[in-house]
Amino acid sequence: MSNQENKNTFATVDSSTDPQAFVQCLHEQYAHNTRLNLNKHETLNLMNLEPGQTVLDAGCGTGVDAVQMAQLVAPTGHVYGIDFSQEMINAAIRHIAERDLPLTYQQGSIYALKFADNFFDRCRADKTFQHLADPEAALGELIRVTKPGGKIVIADPDHDSLIIDSPYPDITRRFVRFRSDHMAQGGIAHQLYRMFKASGLMNVTVTPLTHVYTSYDEKKVSSPYLREIWLAHKHGVVDEDEAQRWASSLQEAIDKECFFCMQTYLVTTGEKHKLQ
Ligand SMILES: C[S@@+](CC[C@H](N)C(=O)[O-])C[C@H]1O[C@@H](n2cnc3c(N)ncnc32)[C@H](O)[C@@H]1O
Repeated sequence: MSNQENKNTFATVDSSTDPQAFVQCLHEQYAHNTRLNLNKHETLNLMNLEPGQTVLDAGCGTGVDAVQMAQLVAPTGHVYGIDFSQEMINAAIRHIAERDLPLTYQQGSIYALKFADNFFDRCRADKTFQHLADPEAALGELIRVTKPGGKIVIADPDHDSLIIDSPYPDITRRFVRFRSDHMAQGGIAHQLYRMFKASGLMNVTVTPLTHVYTSYDEKKVSSPYLREIWLAHKHGVVDEDEAQRWASSLQEAIDKECFFCMQTYLVTTGEKHKLQ
């Protein structure tokens, strides 16, 4: 299936059949996926935030991370959270209603940021690039708005290296490949190192954050494999018998508390050349 056919994605939240479902999905991830929250903590560390800095969170979603960043750069710095989805921005604004922080949320696209060149000390995007049709253009725009010497930090899951234990590894491999191909950019996490270097960014680093999930409840918020295997069937990747066998064995593993899945997130960082 081409990504153009796939209208219900984080790339097009507001025009999807149920925008609030995406907002709810992020709320639930924050509440239940403790490993995703660990990733966020590490990503924040890698940003080296200090009071006084001007920071962009591109694809800020419901804005929770931007609040943390604003606390770190306050009182003299400022954080801008931008998101393509107005529904997300509305949720983010509700989030900060009672807070007195140097923080602004605004609707906008990562492809056309409404900021001057060399404006930000730090630009960050968490789980946004995996949804973008043109990640090179988005990276170029982040570089444009970053100050010389400023830092860009991008975090995404690597969908190609997902491991799910199953007595049917061949079906699993096809399923994992289908999931990755179904994303706009399933392999972006491991491609960003090359893209950062090609864009002239300096001191490029990649930090792997690998987590083992033994609770399906924790994983299913963002990755409902028991449902997605039927999507793979719908697209001809597995036949009905294979989907049935794979789903039954996964359900059995869940019931016997043997569910095992391993996922790696990569956080790529780079600095804009001081002379740019
Ligand atoms: C998976 S969510 C991640 C949200 C948040 N960064 C987090 O970690 O919880 C991806 C976000 O990227 C936003 N997004 C997708 N395409 C975008 C674009 N072209 N410009 C700005 N934001 C975009 C979506 O609306 C969504 O809120």
